[in-house]
Amino acid sequence: MIKRFRFGTPLPTESVVLDLPLCEEAVPFLQGTPACFTYLLGEDDLVFGLGESIRGINKRGWHYVSFCSDDPNHTEDKTSLYGAHNFLLVDGAAGRFGLFWDYAGRVEFDVGYTRRDLLQITPADENYDLYVITGESDVEIVRAFRGLIGKSYIPPKWAFGYGQSRWSYPTEADVRAVARGHRENGIPLDSIYLDIDYMKDYRDFTVDPEKFPDLQALAAELAQDHIHLVPIIDAGVKIEPGDPTYESGKAGGYFCKNAQGEDFVGAVWPGLVHFPDFFQKEARRWFGERYQTLVDQGIEGFWNDMNEPAIFYTPGRLRAVLDELSACQSIDLNLDQFFALKDKLLGLSNNLEDYRSIYHQVEGQMVCHEQVHNLYGANMTRAAGETFEALYPDHRMLFFSRASCIGAHRYGGIWYGDNQSWWSHLAMNLKMLPSANMCGFLFSGADLGGFGSSATEDLLLRWLQLGVFTPLMRNHCAMGNRAQEAYQFSEAPAMAKILGIRYGLLPYLYSEFVKAALADDMLFRPMHFDYPDDPHAAQVEDQLMLGEGLMIAPVLEQNATGRYVYLPEPMKLIRMRSTDDYDQEVLPAGHHYVPVGLRELIFFIRPGCVVPLTQAAMSVEEIDSEHLTLLHFVEQGTGSYVLYDDDGYTRDYQAPDHYRTLTVSV
Ligand code: GLC
Repeated sequence: MIKRFRFGTPLPTESVVLDLPLCEEAVPFLQGTPACFTYLLGEDDLVFGLGESIRGINKRGWHYVSFCSDDPNHTEDKTSLYGAHNFLLVDGAAGRFGLFWDYAGRVEFDVGYTRRDLLQITPADENYDLYVITGESDVEIVRAFRGLIGKSYIPPKWAFGYGQSRWSYPTEADVRAVARGHRENGIPLDSIYLDIDYMKDYRDFTVDPEKFPDLQALAAELAQDHIHLVPIIDAGVKIEPGDPTYESGKAGGYFCKNAQGEDFVGAVWPGLVHFPDFFQKEARRWFGERYQTLVDQGIEGFWNDMNEPAIFYTPGRLRAVLDELSACQSIDLNLDQFFALKDKLLGLSNNLEDYRSIYHQVEGQMVCHEQVHNLYGANMTRAAGETFEALYPDHRMLFFSRASCIGAHRYGGIWYGDNQSWWSHLAMNLKMLPSANMCGFLFSGADLGGFGSSATEDLLLRWLQLGVFTPLMRNHCAMGNRAQEAYQFSEAPAMAKILGIRYGLLPYLYSEFVKAALADDMLFRPMHFDYPDDPHAAQVEDQLMLGEGLMIAPVLEQNATGRYVYLPEPMKLIRMRSTDDYDQEVLPAGHHYVPVGLRELIFFIRPGCVVPLTQAAMSVEEIDSEHLTLLHFVEQGTGSYVLYDDDGYTRDYQAPDHYRTLTVSV
């Protein structure tokens, strides 16, 4: 059951798809006023949700701020990442309910930070819709919420293959070397990502004619090997007279304004840019159609970046700080003055005052960016998603974004931004998956191996072992760090086999993904969702339920040759070295220490469940989905699995021949 409450006069967000009547009664469960609602948490109450955010699956014990932020240091003390996902689920002694703040401004979620037993939610103003969702179980509440916000995006099937990215592969020759490196080492690969250097002067929708003299030919050549090129698109449009995107944006009046009504200017990778005003429907269509220039060259997927929007500086602020600096030249700064100056320099990027000086046209009125900040990146993804849906109603495109807000899950996926090659970030990757799923973002994943700093080979191997299960499976790495392609490591043969397991399990993973998207379910669930009465399951932060039949428990620690696993019921342990080298063992319910060698991957099958497995393949296209081995934990009688499959491109998900039942009899 969903109840909708309205406070003040909210700006439209289009985050939900159901138009529910407004409730006049008091908001159930919560105390306080729209300015700050509170809830008293019981000692053992669990709080889930908040999508892409730091810390645990159980969000208790920290405060989180929904304010899409370009911050590459995802340390435990941070409060905001790139996404703003205002959904919480309280599962407690005195109530089980979901809460959704349908609001595009800043919201603070204090989940027992100020006081252990107090949940406090403070939005920046009091103009929003609040939805309160109740249900028989956590799974039901999430399903109802997902029904409210609309169906999750489904990418083309090839996007479930392994992708290799780097900031940057700056020339055609570099891209070819990456393709060769994988193929020559027998490492599967479905996509190579192009970071900003493929563009001419970082201008959106351009290709550098010297570094990439024939993108179309390159795309066609790689396509023969079933490898897709996926270019990046940044939010900022370079101010460059003569550039088609700049000129057409200017002519259409499609850029964000400042308070004086002039086009707002910020600096990002291209230097000075204007930001498209994705809040205007026409501007979305204009920007969405710009992608066509690359689609015409054989591109079928994109990643949208810097769309919080990230602003390195604004010319006015930079000038003021520089003036201040030069005025200091003749003074001996005292310590206070030094720190004040340092703060000003550090505060040049993503400055709140700059966000306050951007204006959008929202349904004809000029609205200050701060009020709708969290929708900016979401609307960029929407620009591409809705335009392509209109242009190619029967063809799926790959889109994923860095910034996001609930609602954008209908148009594309997300990646979790600039993480680091740290073991703690491997663990964080796992914890974010179910939270992102609750908020509709099924197609998601982190930069495997870590983006910042250098990965060790054991870290990459262990990270790939988690990545085998994440819908977006992309290895990405920043410039200046050690090369991170699997073939660069002495463990390349083991990595190739681990990646092969992804392709072997893909019939199951794809089937579960599409079924979850169609049924508004989660692909990854906290264990508590499946075992609500088991007090141990509620504590588990490093294992996840995956689809109907699997539980995953990857190794997350360096030098570990195994790990502790908690089983709420007997399960079958599968220990795999490759798709044709694995062993199986039934373990009773309880706590176990499970040895897992560095080159091994483990997962568990639940009682009665069947999981199809096929041979490893070099690309999704080459997967044999006919000759399946049925892994199962059926000890007596029969077990079955309904396998979903399709052509990977079209959007006809309901056709009966997409479903076939696989049965095991013992
Ligand atoms: C941002 C993105 C990162 C990308 C870099 C250069 O930091 O998050 O993925 O590689 O910009 O474009």
